[in-house]
Amino acid sequence: MIHQANGIRLGYTDRGAGLPLVFLHAFPLNRTMWTDQEALSSRFRIITVDLRGHGESDAPAWRYSLEQYAADVRQLLGLLGVSRAVFVGLSMGGYLEFALYRNCPDLIRGLVFADTRAEADGPEQVKWRFDLAQRTAAVGPSAVIDDMLPKLLSPGAYQRRPDLVERVKSIQAAAPVHGIVGDLMAMAERPDSTALLGSIAVPTLVIVGQEDVLTPPADAERIAHGIPGARLVTIPDAGHLSNMEQPDQFNRALAEFAAGLPAASR
Ligand code: MLT
Repeated sequence: MIHQANGIRLGYTDRGAGLPLVFLHAFPLNRTMWTDQEALSSRFRIITVDLRGHGESDAPAWRYSLEQYAADVRQLLGLLGVSRAVFVGLSMGGYLEFALYRNCPDLIRGLVFADTRAEADGPEQVKWRFDLAQRTAAVGPSAVIDDMLPKLLSPGAYQRRPDLVERVKSIQAAAPVHGIVGDLMAMAERPDSTALLGSIAVPTLVIVGQEDVLTPPADAERIAHGIPGARLVTIPDAGHLSNMEQPDQFNRALAEFAAGLPAASR
């Protein structure tokens, strides 16, 4: 489905009824990374969004920021009649949750931070993003595939799950150059959210793949320890894209969390 929001077209899927769970994808993927989570639509309202620059959304050339993504999500949810939701963000989607918390805390009933971190980029990471943006502008998404595909899944998945490796690669290959460069710009400029953790006052779940090398379990532990009352679930035999690699375990943790939210916050 497509909606016009903030002057561009945004792609989304909206299935099921009940408590809305809004899924925010990783870099530089799109909402199809959440296909296995749509099974939860038998119990919850599942909304997956293509951020600008990705999937079926428009990919303008200029200018991307996590605040802009937050404004897009907010406007889309308004059009869908959703006034509060549980947000599930993986990696870049988690960075976006911090922007949502800063800009529109009223929208948030609960937060699920998956395979992400609260810290801003250091100088080396900013430099890597700039280099990757230049290479992507020159050769297209293959620059991202070469750099990132070998780091997104657990080592065993590259041996045993060629189907999954191919699925991730084909999502990356479909990413528009403007979207990839825009994400890199947005992530490089994002503020540090560490100081925000102690103030987060909504129910929070943190999920991490035990073999995540991009945002390792130590990053998840810092988020979980920083947010009062947050719960941490570590998923074995999963790398960075834990929801795609171990969907049953991911969905179980998510469903238990959402079903257990206090009635007042559901
Ligand atoms: C992601 O999966 O969204 C990226 O690894 C995030 C990042 O590059 O910091």
